[in-house]
Amino acid sequence: MIAFGIAFGIVLLCCTLAQAQFPRACTTTDALRNKSCCPLWKDGSPCGSSSGRGECRDGIVFVLFSIGKVRQYDDDRLNWPKFYYDKTCECFGNYSGHDCGDCKYGYSGDKCDRKKTVVRKEIRELSLLERKRFFSYLALAKTTKSHDFVVLTTGDRHHRDAYRFVDASIYDMFSWIHYYSIKPILRNGRFNATTNYAHQGPAFPGWHRLGLLFLERQIQLMTGDDSFAMPYYDWRGEEKCSICTNDFLRDNDVQGILSQYSHFASWKVSGEMVTVWAKEGWP
Ligand SMILES: *[C@@H]1O[C@H](CO)[C@@H](O)[C@H](O)[C@H]1NC(C)=O
Ligand SMILES: *[C@@H]1O[C@H](CO)[C@@H](O)[C@H](O)[C@H]1NC(C)=O
Ligand SMILES: *[C@@H]1O[C@H](CO)[C@@H](O)[C@H](O)[C@H]1NC(C)=O
Repeated sequence: MIAFGIAFGIVLLCCTLAQAQFPRACTTTDALRNKSCCPLWKDGSPCGSSSGRGECRDGIVFVLFSIGKVRQYDDDRLNWPKFYYDKTCECFGNYSGHDCGDCKYGYSGDKCDRKKTVVRKEIRELSLLERKRFFSYLALAKTTKSHDFVVLTTGDRHHRDAYRFVDASIYDMFSWIHYYSIKPILRNGRFNATTNYAHQGPAFPGWHRLGLLFLERQIQLMTGDDSFAMPYYDWRGEEKCSICTNDFLRDNDVQGILSQYSHFASWKVSGEMVTVWAKEGWP
């Protein structure tokens, strides 16, 4: 189940990044003003309440950003998503997702009543075909627009009317969630990078696993391939990184720059992110 080793390689490569950023349906002026994030499910009711999937409730908090070493109450990430929404969906039983339209991890089917198992393999134990599939899916995720989520690029979170939400690809969404958890926040008119919710603390492994499960699920939904599982990297006994080759994560050229034959050689950081990082700084 240890999948975060892989993320590591990828994080280093492309400057990357777990509940998601902003559900698109919750970024309308109405939803922001009402502080309500209870999207209509396909039965036409908020959180699929008419179908018994969930209920729109007050004060639900996801623990994702709540475990910080410093508790700063002006931080919009703390007690996520309370800063933005009073009402969110509480999903019942095996249902899950921002609109309760999905299943909890480990379940599938329209009613989420089927057990679902995916086989998570060590990356070097993937067959050639499976490995090609993995890198193709990542490439597709890098270029496919996220249908359900958008990212908030506004640095100043205290002026609701000025929020700017932008589209991002599925991979960039994952990347952004990571950035968001460690990003500098505006405090007394300056960007302050003191709080890092993903690194330098006990939340590290759990946080990254959740992040990878998010990406795994998004890839399953994007491809319709429900059997897809993120591979992991078992580094026990490794003296050097044996997956740092172009067959796997990447090789470097003599200058230490990503090899042009890497799977990721043509990946670019989105222009939006570059703009934001230039403004806010990179912790
Ligand atoms: C916001 O509140 C108004 C007034 O109560 C209501 O008409 C509208 O449907 C609400 N919108 C959302 C997205 O919750
Ligand atoms: C969740 O799925 C399991 C496994 O199929 C099933 O036994 C259980 O009844 C489901 N739970 C609910 C609340 O639907
Ligand atoms: C950043 O915020 C922390 C925590 O509130 C504070 O201790 C520190 O002085 C701030 N740094 C700057 C440069 O303002």
